[in-house]
Amino acid sequence: MKKKFFNAKIYRNDTATEMIVEDGKITHIGTNLPKCEEEIDLEGKLVMPPYVDPHLHLDYVYTLSELGQEGAGSGTLFEAIELWPKFKETLTVESVKRLALKGIKDEVSQGVQHIRTHIDVTDPNFTALKAMLEMKEDLKHLVDIQIVAFPQEGMYMFKGGRDLVEEALKMGADAVGGIPHYEPAREFGEKSVHDIVELALKYDKLIDVHCDETDDPHSRFLELLNALVLMEGYGSRSTASHTCSFGSADDSYAFRMMDLFKKSKLNFISCPTENAYLQGRQDTYPKRRGLTRVKEFLESGINVAFAQDSINDPWYPMGNGNMMNILDNGIHLAQIMSPEEVKTNFDLITYNGARCLNIQDGYGLEVGKRANFIVLNESSVYEAIRKRVDVLASVRGGEYLFKRKETEYDISLEL
Ligand code: FE2
Repeated sequence: MKKKFFNAKIYRNDTATEMIVEDGKITHIGTNLPKCEEEIDLEGKLVMPPYVDPHLHLDYVYTLSELGQEGAGSGTLFEAIELWPKFKETLTVESVKRLALKGIKDEVSQGVQHIRTHIDVTDPNFTALKAMLEMKEDLKHLVDIQIVAFPQEGMYMFKGGRDLVEEALKMGADAVGGIPHYEPAREFGEKSVHDIVELALKYDKLIDVHCDETDDPHSRFLELLNALVLMEGYGSRSTASHTCSFGSADDSYAFRMMDLFKKSKLNFISCPTENAYLQGRQDTYPKRRGLTRVKEFLESGINVAFAQDSINDPWYPMGNGNMMNILDNGIHLAQIMSPEEVKTNFDLITYNGARCLNIQDGYGLEVGKRANFIVLNESSVYEAIRKRVDVLASVRGGEYLFKRKETEYDISLEL
């Protein structure tokens, strides 16, 4: 059945106000489109492709509260990594599924339809990976999930870690992960970056590395990762997550590197709330806030997206899957609020994330693409961001995943 969604304000489209959907796909976008059997009035609200969360740890969500451990300690990154094995030994396939489902519901109910999740594979039983591979299939109707084989405890710091990553790729993980700054010496961090690229090429997988998640400006695994994917022509299929140390790099180095990032087409993911919380812990004042060079990446045409990273886990006690919250924090920390910047700020949680995930061919509001979109409770981009508005509806394949009423008052405020 043909359906027409009309009276819409379509993000990054100044003219169209209507979309026709048939068999789950967008068949027309424009104005004054032909009449359809079903017509849905979007009441002038802003419509955009679904939010993308390109970096989330679904095997960690809610472990902080629900597994009854002693808490996240003082809240530094390395301390949390040391704490994690105690949590990990309590996991079962069922517990991972139960908690991950809560996290997925948090995200999907707030407009996310694409999640890339890093799953810890430094576990010879692959408990979390098995759970997530099943969930990926079972939840296809709600959300597209990409799985990164992530060696949380290291490829070399954890004995046999590299081989576990390889096994996880054979089991069906979509991307190769890594954590070179956690390896016990620079040499092993570099070795792991070589391994990551070799494994990706061998198994035809994407790359997403936790890269230089430290304030140490001498942590430069990003340089090596970028060089390798540049030489292999693999940058657009590769992502460097976090890259906090690049926010501490001096300009002469940073601008040389940004030229090379442009050449390689490497993607970046910044996790603004998580890293604002975790980084700068050894600083007194001025205190760094953990952000990579988001503003300069945007100005240079280097693809960068924002992500949630954690929901209530040993790394970060907060988090609720609301990408609007991530965007709001991110544009403050990155200082990107000029009228020109605001026009495309939503790209940071939509189109740019889709590029990191390499799904841009099937993503977006264009004829021929799947009819996946969300409806925001505002008509202008600026007001939507300023008010941090809710997602009123999420549509997938032309069908509503959910629909939410605007806030109603029993007694409204009169001035
Ligand atoms: Fe992460």
